[in-house]
Amino acid sequence: MFQAVLFDLDGVITDTAEYHFLAWEKLAQEIGIKIDREFNENLKGVSREESLRRILEHGGKENDYTAEEFAAMAKLKNDNYVEMIQAVSPKDIYPGILQLLQDLRGQGIKIALASASKNGPFLLDQMQLTDYFDAIADPAKVAASKPAPDIFIAAAEGVGVDVSQAIGIEDAYSGIAAIKAAKVLPIGVGKAEVLGTDIALVSDTSQLTLDFLTKVWENK
Ligand code: G6P
Ligand code: MG
Repeated sequence: MFQAVLFDLDGVITDTAEYHFLAWEKLAQEIGIKIDREFNENLKGVSREESLRRILEHGGKENDYTAEEFAAMAKLKNDNYVEMIQAVSPKDIYPGILQLLQDLRGQGIKIALASASKNGPFLLDQMQLTDYFDAIADPAKVAASKPAPDIFIAAAEGVGVDVSQAIGIEDAYSGIAAIKAAKVLPIGVGKAEVLGTDIALVSDTSQLTLDFLTKVWENK
């Protein structure tokens, strides 16, 4: 049986992936770059700075700004995002997630957060989920962000479980790549066209039951 579950946050625990998109879309619009949901798949799971770099590149403006201007744009996006998430509450927890956390707890399985977001701890607090988490990997302390394995390795270390005994849950292409690189067993939330056909997938978080995770683990 697996000993830990390493959770992504945005798009897995709650719908904040949508807020990230809306905040990036606004920022991009202000500097004359159009981004759509298809392009946004390239931003999911990716750090704030790398997301902005990809947006500027997408608009052919990667050489147009100084480091100070770049930092100011990243801050603007975050300020806007932080405003959007003030109203997040327990009712925003995705279907099935609270039950899964409770069931994992009941089985003594460790729970860790492996999100690239520096707003992760705030969001867990807003949803009153902090107490379920045995560890929160700090994205500011890992050398490389997703698709590098670092944050999942840090999350497993945080709960004292070997990566070979952990399941990772992600909604982003870069996140699934990070889980695989960490040698953790991946479960994707989303579509095979985005996440791949070679991993266990659910279309909806309500399918993320302890029973489902156990079956995926037994069939690996
Ligand atoms: C997650 C999200 C990304 C976001 C990143 C950094 O990985 O999927 O969309 O850019 O975290 O989040 P932050 O809140 O620190 O800007
Ligand atoms: Mg995500």
